[in-house]
Amino acid sequence: IIANWKMNPDTSDKAVTLVQTIEQAITGISDVEVVIASPFPFLSSIATILTHAKLGSQNAFWEDKGAYTGEISADMIKNLGVKYVLIGHSERRQDHPEETNEIINKKIIKALKNGLKIIFCIGERERDTKGCYFHFIKKEILEGLEGIDGKEADNIIIAYEPIWAIGAKAQRADRPDDTLKIVDFIREVLSSIFGKNLSRKIPVLYGGSVDADNAQDFLKNGGVQGLLVGRSSLDGKIFSKILKDADV
Ligand code: PGA
Repeated sequence: IIANWKMNPDTSDKAVTLVQTIEQAITGISDVEVVIASPFPFLSSIATILTHAKLGSQNAFWEDKGAYTGEISADMIKNLGVKYVLIGHSERRQDHPEETNEIINKKIIKALKNGLKIIFCIGERERDTKGCYFHFIKKEILEGLEGIDGKEADNIIIAYEPIWAIGAKAQRADRPDDTLKIVDFIREVLSSIFGKNLSRKIPVLYGGSVDADNAQDFLKNGGVQGLLVGRSSLDGKIFSKILKDADV
């Protein structure tokens, strides 16, 4: 279960308090891997207090170092204790139009090379009646994972996040039975790249308006192995309930 804090909270103190609540909740559960994808400025302070949850970041650049003002390399965050990195989140794709499938592929290659596990975000802008979104999702996966060797399967997580279901302006969360159909399709595409056995190692997560009321439904009926949680991960109580529900 991954907490995607996005550009929140506003202070390091609040970030630390939230982590403490989450850590407390984790002590009561046994079988859930928890990742906190924090903004860059809080990574160092969070790293010192995490005991159960793993540290995640929300982006990493595709070069190691050099004249790239404002960028942060996979190596830098790894040295802070980051284990997971979100790549290709739809909010980044939208706010940074240069973040194409090709650039995302470069970021994935670099992050994997630096020993990070990637949470590769994909998802359609709209669910049209003709089913064009299947084609869109397939293209995102094929282009994003271009050239990635099957031996990296252990380090890849796919987060399926339909864009229309994300954030405060979301129409609604997806329906778990619709998610299930798309997850089956994603598995087919992964299988065409890595073969059936290796592709089975890749967890597929759902994200988009996950909350304490629907989390269990997605995990039971959506065919997913986990969740990428935005808004509901900023409330310690709600996120703790999601973690409990995920602990089966
Ligand atoms: P949300 O965001 O849960 O607030 O819809 C999910 C995400 O963007 O990862």
